[in-house]
Amino acid sequence: MNQPVMGGVAALNVPAYIKHQQLINWVADIAALTKPDSIYWCDGSEEEYDRLCAQMVDAGTMKKLNPAKRPNSYLAWSDPTDVARVEDRTYICAATKEQAGPTNNWMDPAEMRRTLNGLFDGCMAGRTLYVVPFSMGPLGSPIAHIGVELSDSPYVAVNMRIMTRMGKAVYDVLGTDGAFVPCVHTVGMPLSAGQQDVPWPCNATKYIVHYPESREIWSFGSGYGGNALLGKKCFALRIASNMGYQEAQAGGTGWLAEHMLILGVESPKGDKKYIAAAFPSACGKTNFAMLIPPAAFDGWKVTTIGDDIAWIKPGPDGQLVAINPEAGYFGVAPGTNDKTNPNCMASLRENVIFTNVALTDDGDVWWEGMTKELPAHLVDWQGKDWTPALGTKAAHPNARFTVAATQNPVIDQAWDDPAGVPISAFIFGGRRSTTVPLVTEANNWVEGVYMAATMGSETTAAAAGQMGIVRRDPFAMLPFIGYNMSDYFQHWLDMGKKVQAAQPKIFCVNWFRTDDKGSFVWPGYGDNMRVLKWILDRADDSVPAGNAHLFGSSPSYGDLNWEGIDFTEAQFEQITSIDKDAWVEELKLHSELFDKLAYRLPQELVETKARLEKQLG
Ligand code: OXD
Ligand code: MN
Repeated sequence: MNQPVMGGVAALNVPAYIKHQQLINWVADIAALTKPDSIYWCDGSEEEYDRLCAQMVDAGTMKKLNPAKRPNSYLAWSDPTDVARVEDRTYICAATKEQAGPTNNWMDPAEMRRTLNGLFDGCMAGRTLYVVPFSMGPLGSPIAHIGVELSDSPYVAVNMRIMTRMGKAVYDVLGTDGAFVPCVHTVGMPLSAGQQDVPWPCNATKYIVHYPESREIWSFGSGYGGNALLGKKCFALRIASNMGYQEAQAGGTGWLAEHMLILGVESPKGDKKYIAAAFPSACGKTNFAMLIPPAAFDGWKVTTIGDDIAWIKPGPDGQLVAINPEAGYFGVAPGTNDKTNPNCMASLRENVIFTNVALTDDGDVWWEGMTKELPAHLVDWQGKDWTPALGTKAAHPNARFTVAATQNPVIDQAWDDPAGVPISAFIFGGRRSTTVPLVTEANNWVEGVYMAATMGSETTAAAAGQMGIVRRDPFAMLPFIGYNMSDYFQHWLDMGKKVQAAQPKIFCVNWFRTDDKGSFVWPGYGDNMRVLKWILDRADDSVPAGNAHLFGSSPSYGDLNWEGIDFTEAQFEQITSIDKDAWVEELKLHSELFDKLAYRLPQELVETKARLEKQLG
């Protein structure tokens, strides 16, 4: 310990292995502002994880699950007002509003700093400030970046240990002057002397703030998911997307931080390809990333690099390579079961933190869709007795599990490879009950970027707000682009040119078309392999292109493998048909988006839309 106690402020007690004076000064400054009772430097050890979990069990924040049913696992129930990301409270405080663009909330950074200084003043009173050092990406990888989160939530500290490479070794990489992204988080509920804490402290006022110029993140008032685990959406998407763009603006190659899973597919002959796929939140990304091919694909193996985020850069041979910056999965539990995702269920057998699922009478967890038969009795996510007769949801629809990637039985061997994996194709998929066909290959990079830029999706419970309405979600990145969206499109177009010789093909998929009764037509899950196989074959032109249509080309019924499934040509037609009237309407929505983004919108995209409109007549 090399720092003395400071008068009236919690003792810094810096561990001797930390040699980074700027970091130490910053922790001291934040402690002086937030006034915690004590400061704790996380080392990332198992002993520490166990201790913090036990402490939260004592405090009523978590319950330890029955070790015979779910070894070393915990259940946390959040405050009912703190259950999702709060996009309307999320800000990109760039120097100018224009740099944040029309799709982000913006406030003048100086004004925001004044607001936050007020809110953060004394916000950690009565609590411990946890110093959480983490690496996004393999420690020391040239693609990885380091962050340090200061949080008054032990729940954040233990979740960050699962979701990132968290702990002491980060300081070895940082050395005396390494760069890190400073992240400050508080639940926003200071305790006055003797005040009793609540199991899930939070504040009705919430701010999730990013300062892209200084690469800082400040989060106030929520303890939940992406609002609080700042390595994930705040750093690995919003700040990182900005970093990748800025690098290109400064004359470098630049890179991409994307809301994409990365999966590997190996053929029976041992050929291996990697695909990156973007879907909006809660559209089955984890299921797709852990897909088990149906029996017709005997000998094919699908493996996971990541389930949510990809950092992508041109590699030494001109091909795009990707890493998963995360080390764990913070997945949506409802709907996950032994049929929809057996690999995920296997990952969740032990060492899991569950949040907002229901508790069974024998001390295990349950969520909607986990079993066909409903348990006779549960305690729901709000701590109330639950029986099927109530007709309410026992788990919150955005209930989550936090689990280490290494528990995934189909983890890819290269998942931790600092060099990343080469990407052969990009897939973009939304949740659309109509209009968008099962699979389409874009004619070229520009049209693929147009396809991704105009993506729409029906909203889900991952974000607070109305569910089920179609919103434009370009690149599945609407809530996650840390700069002006028009510049983001241009950055994608530019990256395409930089990897011209080895451009991955771009595809659009839609697993979610429904029939006139509102039921999904496509079986999805493992059967998505049938579509994936066609995509892989098209990625290296080993099969001829599909049928050309309005905005790309799609396979005929006969182009997919239907062995082992009763899926008729008429059903295929139902989910691949292109309804001209629907597309006329769809194009109007593209126009709405483009009007909003008109300032600096790349001309190539404007021209692509004009061409489509002309074709539609
Ligand atoms: C997530 C999300 O948690 O996209 O991954 O909301
Ligand atoms: Mn996500």
